[in-house]
Amino acid sequence: MRGIKILGAGMYMPETVASNDWFSTILDTSDEWIYTRTGIRERRISEDKPNWYMAAEASRAAVADSGIAPEDIDLVLAATCSPDYFYPALSCLVQQQVGAVNAAAFDINSACTGFINALDTASRFLQDGDYRNILIVASERLAPHCDYTDRTASILFGDGAGAAVVTRSDKPMWSYLSAKGDFFNALYCKVDQSRSNCPLLKPDALPEGIIDTEAKTHTLQMNGKAVYKFAVDAMETAVNKVLERSGLTTGDIDLFIPHQANARIIESAVKGLNLPAEKVYVNLEKHGNTSSACIPTCLAELKAESRIKEGMKICLVGFGAGLTSGAIVFEQ
Ligand code: ACO
Repeated sequence: MRGIKILGAGMYMPETVASNDWFSTILDTSDEWIYTRTGIRERRISEDKPNWYMAAEASRAAVADSGIAPEDIDLVLAATCSPDYFYPALSCLVQQQVGAVNAAAFDINSACTGFINALDTASRFLQDGDYRNILIVASERLAPHCDYTDRTASILFGDGAGAAVVTRSDKPMWSYLSAKGDFFNALYCKVDQSRSNCPLLKPDALPEGIIDTEAKTHTLQMNGKAVYKFAVDAMETAVNKVLERSGLTTGDIDLFIPHQANARIIESAVKGLNLPAEKVYVNLEKHGNTSSACIPTCLAELKAESRIKEGMKICLVGFGAGLTSGAIVFEQ
């Protein structure tokens, strides 16, 4: 049996609040437009704290909540698409910061689907038997990626981190993961190579479909409509596939935690799947889309309110750049 149990959860949000009203001072937009089109009122922006700092704070909170000692963590998995360093991995910085001296560490990047992919990976390491406790942290500092003259994309994203300590369980877990690389140019942020002074460097070859003539392509580029369409379909497909694998129905699930990209995307998927709204947890009004950190920050908020209970069947579902998507069902 490939089961996991959440022992502890934690989160970190930067202090600075960027409200919709603040956006209306720098862009041609309004609180009314943003709220009705996205469900977001405000998000946090990390003015001076790097990604590793946020990841470490969320991780320390999750480890404290779990009650285990940092030395008893066997693996640190970090999900991020906005690391401070190409190398070393964010997970190595977190390992050092939390004192997980006996842990191996590596990163996973599947953008907003990162926590789902990391949790699935963790469950397979736990099944092996050599690994008992795994710290998963998902942390994003997207403000440096965003173009704050682009009112369509910049208003969606926030910075923050969420973490969970998981251990092996005899209860069941199922997953469904997917990637559609054909849609890579619906949402991307290119590495800026322009600082190199290597005289041999020529412009990069680009995958078909990417137009890189503008200087701005090292900022987040998004085709909002294409992502929206993909997202509703991908969430419904992922939940249906994972339920099919589990033999469960939506009625058997106690709690749904979707990726927090846009309230309208969540509402469409909820309607399509015929889910009871009271079982669906949403926190995007105050955090916006924190990419891979969305789902673990929901877990941390729910755990802090003692709303994650033994025996509950929980469904996590996400989508993101790639385009990737996935869902997990597990019994706590
Ligand atoms: N304020 C005011 N007007 C705006 C804004 C804004 N912030 N943004 C766009 N508009 C305007 C547009 O210019 C357009 O004007 P026009 O009709 O004169 O051309 C009008 O509003 C409608 O624009 P649409 O793009 O049709 O707006 P839509 O209702 O599709 O909402 C949005 C745009 C919110 C981006 C939506 O498409 C969306 O949420 N897409 C999914 C994005 C997403 O989930 N991204 C994250 C993926 S996860 C990851 O991996 C990072």
